[in-house]
Amino acid sequence: MLRALLLESLHPVATTVLNAHGIDVTRRSGALDEDELIDALQGVHVLGIRSKTEVTARVLDNAPDLVVVGTFSIGTNQIDLAHAAHRGVAVFNAPFSNTRSVVELTLAEIIALTRRLTERDKALHDGVWDKSAEGAHEVRGRTLGIVGYGNIGTQLSVVAEALGLRVVFYDTAEKLALGNAVRMSSLDELLEVADIVTLHVDGRPGNAGMFGAEQFARMRPGSVFLNLSRGFLVDYGALRERVLSGHIVGAAVDVFPEEPKNAGDAFDSELRHLPNVILTPHIGGSTEEAQQDIGLFVSAKLRDYVDYGTTSLSVNVPSLILDRPREGGHRIAHLHRNVPGVLAGVNQALSKVGVNVESQVLGTWGDIGYVATDVDAPVPAEAVAELEAMDPTIRVRVLEATASR
Ligand SMILES: NC(=O)c1ccc[n+]([C@@H]2O[C@H](COP(=O)([O-])OP(=O)(O)OC[C@H]3O[C@@H](n4cnc5c(N)ncnc54)[C@H](O)[C@@H]3O)[C@@H](O)[C@H]2O)c1
Repeated sequence: MLRALLLESLHPVATTVLNAHGIDVTRRSGALDEDELIDALQGVHVLGIRSKTEVTARVLDNAPDLVVVGTFSIGTNQIDLAHAAHRGVAVFNAPFSNTRSVVELTLAEIIALTRRLTERDKALHDGVWDKSAEGAHEVRGRTLGIVGYGNIGTQLSVVAEALGLRVVFYDTAEKLALGNAVRMSSLDELLEVADIVTLHVDGRPGNAGMFGAEQFARMRPGSVFLNLSRGFLVDYGALRERVLSGHIVGAAVDVFPEEPKNAGDAFDSELRHLPNVILTPHIGGSTEEAQQDIGLFVSAKLRDYVDYGTTSLSVNVPSLILDRPREGGHRIAHLHRNVPGVLAGVNQALSKVGVNVESQVLGTWGDIGYVATDVDAPVPAEAVAELEAMDPTIRVRVLEATASR
């Protein structure tokens, strides 16, 4: 029986989807450290995590049964993706499920910072009637600078314009400007015109420390800053200096370089207790709607990969959009190093035992290749052994379609 381990309190719908497919599921609420994870992965084929569990090369080298990892989040930099591919472990994520949730929190915070809402709220809870218009503004007519115009950046652009914000954006890739948004040719150009700067770039290693003292100095006096993307992109010490000097009049931060692993853990940051600074514990994408959508999306990806080998939207192996094999059919899913002659080797091994190929799809991505071969008869053990013994082979799985699935 296939076994799955789901960590970090994933939405129950993930268990429902996997159980319905005959996969035995163990759930745990927190993340595990490297040694704990290695122990827990013995005999486990499917791993589900969020952003706190690190799937390192050492974990992958010591989890021989693992076939697939699903990260129930957008980011994947907690997983050694290249090493996973070379160990025959496909990885899937949820690139779109919580986009709207992040956009809504970003907009809520832009208004809250511009009205100094959390300060007024705190004063009243402390028993002080602090009615004043000083430092409170409308967002209408202000310029929003979006850094990173991807899934979140573009949706934010559209909804922000409906509030009357002027939108400018900067992205390192060519991006179509939506609505009336204006593309800036550099980050510096954006920083010179934006009243509100919000980061929505991805967490590729090259982005580490991309926003520091120099960028904060270039921001307009009286502007506000938000980061709901990744903590290691920003020098928060530099942000603290600029908030204390009054150059930046408000900030909202949802992500940190070091984040506690479990709910209830202690937290510290140089940004605590600063005026008009909203700190949230990485909840940009955490709504019940997003969690349910992520749970459904990723667990379906895991189920379909285990079941019939489809890799559509995988983040580390070639994407093959495969139909379920015909009922009673047999599919050989072969992950390999992308070198010449693999297809010939696969077909030779099959023809030797008299197995006829019904259809075959090959995809390659960098140094990884993936070929799905549908055949007209059960695959004899000697053919499987020959495929496994081929030098470029990473993993061979023989998948059988049954009426129940
Ligand atoms: N706070 C949360 O809970 C939460 C939830 C979801 C996503 N996120 C984070 O939000 C970020 C954006 O997510 P997305 O789905 O929009 O990603 P995406 O990949 O769709 O978009 C990222 C964009 O940033 C651009 N980019 C990369 N490096 C850049 C740079 N140095 N300068 C300018 N542009 C750059 C890319 O070209 C791309 O268009 C990610 O870092 C993700 O991890 C956070």
